[in-house]
Amino acid sequence: MKYVLSGIGIMFGLFFVLMLLTVGFVSTVNRSKGDRGQVLPGEGENAKKAIIIYQPAATKATTKVAQQLAAGLNAGGYEVTLNHPGEHLSPDLSGYGLIIFGSPTYAGQLTKTLTDYVAQVCSQLRAVMGETPRLALFATGAVDQLEEFDRLAETLNGLNVIKKVKFLSGTKETNEKTAFDLGLELAQK
Ligand SMILES: Cc1cc2nc3c(=O)[nH]c(=O)nc-3n(C[C@H](O)[C@H](O)[C@H](O)COP(=O)(O)O)c2cc1C
Repeated sequence: MKYVLSGIGIMFGLFFVLMLLTVGFVSTVNRSKGDRGQVLPGEGENAKKAIIIYQPAATKATTKVAQQLAAGLNAGGYEVTLNHPGEHLSPDLSGYGLIIFGSPTYAGQLTKTLTDYVAQVCSQLRAVMGETPRLALFATGAVDQLEEFDRLAETLNGLNVIKKVKFLSGTKETNEKTAFDLGLELAQK
């Protein structure tokens, strides 16, 4: 009986430690990564403008996808700004014809830093009369499902969302090529 009780105690202890580690990991991932603005100049002074706002995290999978998307758009003639979400960034993105948001998926959720920023941008866009920019979203993750995007349905309601893409882990080269090709495709529209 004594052994059974101490076994149960150890199991609970391990579960508790695992929960603490997961909560700590997710809160680290959600922390704002600061102002890392980078601009890839477009073709000519009147180049169309795109911005990619993405939350980087642990293994750089999301960063690589964002960079290749930017490279594809840039090869298609766009001026592309890359940055991380956070208070340093204005939610007024009305100067861009194409806005792309990206995030890793943890515990079935896109990162809060990104989704909070998306909510601010979308309420600003909704307040502007006339044609709104095209929006696209991407997530990276290990699970082949798109439910994480569903939580943003209300936020994105009525806006011009043209793509929602999930890049699955384990296919690094394929993801980078797919991201570049997607950038080129979006530049041509
Ligand atoms: C604790 C933890 C939870 C995760 N939960 C999910 C999940 O719910 N759905 C999913 O598709 N991927 C999940 N993943 C996989 C990550 O989303 C994937 O590794 C991601 O591409 C990492 O991107 P990053 O390198 O930019 O952090 C999880 C990974 C970890 C470590």
